[in-house]
Amino acid sequence: MDITQQAKYIATHYQQQLLKWYAKEGRISLPWRNLKGENTPYGVYVSEIMLQQTQVKRVQEKYFIPFLHTFPTLKALAQAPLDSILKCWEGLGYYTRARNMQKSAIICCDKYNATLPRTRKELLQLPGIGAYTSGAILCFGFGESVSFVDGNIKRVLCRIFALREPSQALLDKLALLLLDSKHSFDYNQALLDLGAMICTPKSPSCHICPVHNFCNGKTNPALYPTPKSSHLTTLILHLAVYMNKKGEIAFVYTDEKEGKNSLYQGLYNLPSFKLEEIAHYEKCYTKCGSFKHHYTKYAITANVYWLDYEHLDILRHMQSKKLHFFLPQELDAKPLSSLCKKALKLVDSRF
Ligand code: ADE
Repeated sequence: MDITQQAKYIATHYQQQLLKWYAKEGRISLPWRNLKGENTPYGVYVSEIMLQQTQVKRVQEKYFIPFLHTFPTLKALAQAPLDSILKCWEGLGYYTRARNMQKSAIICCDKYNATLPRTRKELLQLPGIGAYTSGAILCFGFGESVSFVDGNIKRVLCRIFALREPSQALLDKLALLLLDSKHSFDYNQALLDLGAMICTPKSPSCHICPVHNFCNGKTNPALYPTPKSSHLTTLILHLAVYMNKKGEIAFVYTDEKEGKNSLYQGLYNLPSFKLEEIAHYEKCYTKCGSFKHHYTKYAITANVYWLDYEHLDILRHMQSKKLHFFLPQELDAKPLSSLCKKALKLVDSRF
């Protein structure tokens, strides 16, 4: 039997077992699974974008509800100052997600009467919405019977069919063949839960898996799919904390036009020294300490220096970018990177 036939053969029983498990063990009370009313597609959109690179627990505990409270509709999101959106996103990382959401909201207000479009083709044209997210919005937001494949679902499918490096086309086909089209909302949520709770990347709990009997990968799950090699880039940063006589701290701002590759677009950050400047200006600063920080693919070691207030000229010389000065109490309203917040905390604990 080829894989497609296998999928057709197991579909009904596999769906029943999965849904039975979901009703008992699934995370059915997650807030984005219980949205009601015409704004549901927008709520689902927000949740799916947040969940792309952030864990369920963090999104649920800190971000989803406050974000919807602050920007309750696509229109509110389209009209908000970008800074206020980034402020709500602070700590989630991958800030391009938030900027793309606003761009999409503006397009939806212009073209679709401030609602999300209801076709894959139109959703895919919005910035930041790819194959997975468009499918999730259609299924969870509009109640359409569609299938889709994210990282979790890919892992489940690869293990069931013992696939190491399947093409996206094969995965899409299998996802569609296995879809329970009468219960697509619960079925797809169940699959996400199975991938996150049982069929995990490391040490999956095969002994309690509800679809264990259909799985061809259970004797050696680590083989399916072939693990990606993760390469972290190490980065050493030298951050300067400068406070002027008025008690304002100096920041630099990275805006979007400065190149898609720069870290922390749209956020305020501390100015940084180059390595040779550290040696050169040795007498002008006090070293406060160091900490480690992870951001996207970077493993960062950040060294933090307190620059004495008479050395504004040095700061200006080091930094070609415009400096922005804010009082500590103003920072609550400014989008700061987590790296920057950690550095300020470190300085605070030293003085
Ligand atoms: N990850 C991506 N989408 C999700 C969802 N709807 N529920 C839980 N985890 C998810």
